[in-house]
Amino acid sequence: MKILATYNIKGGVGKTSTAVNIGYLAARDGYRVLLWDLDPQAAASFLFRIRPRVKGGGKALIRGKRPVEDAIKGTDFDGLDLLPADFTYRHLDLVLDSAKKPARQLASLLAPLRAEYDVVILDCPPSISLLSESVLHAADLLLVPLIPTTLSVRTLDQLTGFIDDFAGHRPAILAFFSMIDRRKRLHLEISQALPSERGEFAQAVIPALSLIERMSVERAPVTAFSPRSQAARSYGDLWREARERAGLGDPPG
Ligand SMILES: Nc1ncnc2c1ncn2[C@@H]1O[C@H](COP(=O)(O)OP(=O)(O)OP(=O)(O)O)[C@@H](O)[C@H]1O
Ligand SMILES: [Mg+2]
Repeated sequence: MKILATYNIKGGVGKTSTAVNIGYLAARDGYRVLLWDLDPQAAASFLFRIRPRVKGGGKALIRGKRPVEDAIKGTDFDGLDLLPADFTYRHLDLVLDSAKKPARQLASLLAPLRAEYDVVILDCPPSISLLSESVLHAADLLLVPLIPTTLSVRTLDQLTGFIDDFAGHRPAILAFFSMIDRRKRLHLEISQALPSERGEFAQAVIPALSLIERMSVERAPVTAFSPRSQAARSYGDLWREARERAGLGDPPG
């Protein structure tokens, strides 16, 4: 089982759009996939038409009082399950703070799912908090969407610096440019220069496309409702790089 997380301290950069499309593509490849919507805003749950509610709230789940399996829902797609968000997730930092080893908590909660899933995707809220730290410790690979500005490199440096200080487990990083506007010269310059200079960058980029925004109307991944579109091809390229960097073996069966 490999754990992937879409993460950025910044909001609105494409984390959820990436998580739902990568989740769908992984399931379509034949992996058994679980997507955990960790954001109280519940955008991923909404996109999969699943009510954002966990019985007993996030506290029981995170404290291990209620088995994670009990909260899992099936989606409309074969091989893709969802652990929904819950509004109580906004207090997860407090809950984690009272745990014995907060940074290890998510990893130990997910460990029993090893027999059931090949890929777990964590869709994170935008923040740098105890929850993010727990996510970073659990993840094998971080997918980091960056809007191409000169500051995006700083954001990435801060993240790699933060992870370098970790003792023990450290996730690999796959940063990629998100919402690239081809009409903006700066976007083009940055998105062409950096991937060849820095090893953390994916070759794949996700352009700014209105079809991606349409996901909230269709309430499905664009890779599912428009599989031949440029949007779907871009997510497909990103998924292939992510699969390789995460060291995922061939899908079973
Ligand atoms: N490549 C893209 N082109 C156009 N619109 C996009 C693209 N990616 C995401 N969006 C839109 O931008 C908004 C934010 O995207 P998304 O929810 O994926 O970001 P996020 O990083 O998860 O945000 P948050 O930090 O609030 O969780 C959404 O309305 C989404 O439809
Ligand atoms: Mg999101």
